[in-house]
Amino acid sequence: MKTLVIVTHPNIETSRVNAAWLEELRKHSDITVHELYKAYPDENIDVAKEQALIEAHDRVIFQYPLFWYSSPMLLKKWFDSVLQYGWAYGPDGSKTAGKQFGAAISTYGSEASYQPSGSNRFTLAEILRPIEATTHFISGEYLPHFALSDVSNLTDERLAESTKAYVKHVRAAQPVTVA
Ligand SMILES: Cc1cc2nc3c(=O)[nH]c(=O)nc-3n(C[C@H](O)[C@H](O)[C@H](O)COP(=O)(O)O)c2cc1C
Repeated sequence: MKTLVIVTHPNIETSRVNAAWLEELRKHSDITVHELYKAYPDENIDVAKEQALIEAHDRVIFQYPLFWYSSPMLLKKWFDSVLQYGWAYGPDGSKTAGKQFGAAISTYGSEASYQPSGSNRFTLAEILRPIEATTHFISGEYLPHFALSDVSNLTDERLAESTKAYVKHVRAAQPVTVA
């Protein structure tokens, strides 16, 4: 299983969570790490290069900080430009079929806030529906998400635990089965 982690953080230098996750992932040579804002400081995505990267891997994790219940804009641009008709979908678009896709996110909001009764009203699974729906649309298999919440109250210990759990998740998460 060849795994690619696409990291999208516009300020990785000031990041705590995504930077720690990234630093750990880089120690594992079986995991390919691709930082979108580093690869494209001008935000001009090389579509052919991105498609080749996806074709060379079986599992893709999109790692990012939650921004307005969504992703930093370069990841949205990535979806809009890379997942093309005739490549990811459409009559001859089968390059993403059978591949696994999932999200790994950090959030300011606490776990309790991401509940129907909480201040953010919706669960993270609900907020991540666009990635789940996109995965379905491009004939991929959706992985359960990985999250670290309440990052403003984060101890070094909880960050270290999450980092360990994250690497396990990246390697071993199994697709969500739809009943
Ligand atoms: C523009 C912007 C929008 C944000 N929107 C959300 C949000 O919708 N929900 C939330 O829980 N946190 C939100 N945050 C907080 C970030 O998710 C949080 O700072 C980040 O996950 C911390 O990760 P890092 O240490 O890797 O930077 C937002 C932050 C910024 C800068």
